[in-house]
Amino acid sequence: MTSAGRAASGTDRKGPQPPIVAPSILSADFAKLADAVAIADPAREWVHCDVMDNHFVPNLTFGPLIVNAVRRMSRAFLDCHLMIERPERIVDAFREAGADQITVHLEACQDPGATLDRVRASGARAGLAIKPGTPFRAAENWLDRIDLMLVMTVEPGFGGQTFMAEMMPKVFEAKEWRAKHGGSFLIEVDGGIASDTARIARAAGADVFVAGHAIYGAQDPAAALSALRRAIE
Ligand code: DX5
Ligand code: ZN
Repeated sequence: MTSAGRAASGTDRKGPQPPIVAPSILSADFAKLADAVAIADPAREWVHCDVMDNHFVPNLTFGPLIVNAVRRMSRAFLDCHLMIERPERIVDAFREAGADQITVHLEACQDPGATLDRVRASGARAGLAIKPGTPFRAAENWLDRIDLMLVMTVEPGFGGQTFMAEMMPKVFEAKEWRAKHGGSFLIEVDGGIASDTARIARAAGADVFVAGHAIYGAQDPAAALSALRRAIE
């Protein structure tokens, strides 16, 4: 087994139970990445990694190399959000790097079912994300084979944008679908999450709350994370 593979082993777990805050390192100071990652308590939080390819979204971030560095810095559940075209081509590399969960965008997949199956076959939990312009019903066909549905509350690509409250009906639809069909996936919101907007999303049915700017843009990120957690608990 490679060192990355060893790092990945033992991370095949469900992680904390909802409600869960997932600090997004996109807004962290990468010169002090270890400090940023250290604020996440593995018993309570996930660490959210935003992977961007400058094709699916107009921004470029990092790949499996940095995910593996984060893996070696923390025992927290690693939630990898792939904002990349044709994610099926690189799913295994993220799993090998130590991702516990790999979320792909419906809009980026040629064959979403096959891609999600590939994520699960890698041993990672499988997430499916939809952009603000994509209706909930577009994802319905795949809800029986996912562990997480990510309802984007901003256009993917950048941190620090304004929360789109008009996405809350999709969160509610996902919650209703899950109750009706006995689904077990978690519902995640990502974009513009702070204490006030997290409360709104919690009321709509969200289980997992990704936050970048609200945490890493604060003077004291650990205190900001605690405040966010208190807002949803
Ligand atoms: C945006 C990313 C988000 C981003 C959220 O495309 O998916 O995870 O980090 O950042 P904030 O919380 O600053 O809106
Ligand atoms: Zn994200």
